[in-house]
Amino acid sequence: MTDLPPLVVLAQAAAAELGMPLSREGTGPSCCLPGVGRFLAVLAAGCAGGLIGEMGTGVGVGAAWMASAMPAGCRLVTVELDPVRVAAAQRVFADQDRVEVIHGDSYDELARRAPFDLVFVDGGPSDRVVELLRIGGRLVFDDVTPVEALPADSPYRENDPKREFFFTDSRLVATEVVLPDLQNSLLVGTRVR
Ligand SMILES: C[S@@+](CC[C@H](N)C(=O)[O-])C[C@H]1O[C@@H](n2cnc3c(N)ncnc32)[C@H](O)[C@@H]1O
Repeated sequence: MTDLPPLVVLAQAAAAELGMPLSREGTGPSCCLPGVGRFLAVLAAGCAGGLIGEMGTGVGVGAAWMASAMPAGCRLVTVELDPVRVAAAQRVFADQDRVEVIHGDSYDELARRAPFDLVFVDGGPSDRVVELLRIGGRLVFDDVTPVEALPADSPYRENDPKREFFFTDSRLVATEVVLPDLQNSLLVGTRVR
């Protein structure tokens, strides 16, 4: 469980160069946590012959987890608005002909390439993301705090827009997965209609 895939090590080094944190602490954008990356890798490994999308590349940490695990016939498209991060991610994936790093708006660029087998929603508008999936395709959101780990007075205990979105869309069968640190969770859903 401790070994990181070489591509992830490369992406984490790019993150360090740009000062992009590997944790959720701080105010700016951060890279996906290793627990999230491992979960993405599990899903990516099941996408034989499929297409994976990522909204918000950062410098490619989550994409590196997915690309390291996806089967040979699978492709990954990841989209980022920030040109400096795009350039860094393109260097990370320079030798990976199954990975495309695109500069642009994540929803617009993925919508042009849909349908996807797996979409990691990590930057950009999320209201129409279910439409990006084929039936049976999966959606993942991270940066969620388990209710038990929230402060007693947190408004997210009662009303969390991400959970609301996931658990009220009748096209998704969805659940929350709490990571082993018990401080972070993610939401995962499968499109059924
Ligand atoms: C949390 S970071 C992404 C981390 C990355 N997914 C990872 O696994 O390390 C969010 C990123 O989304 C990008 N972003 C925000 N809005 C966007 C949009 N509309 N289209 C594309 N990228 C966007 C930000 O510039 C930022 O780099």
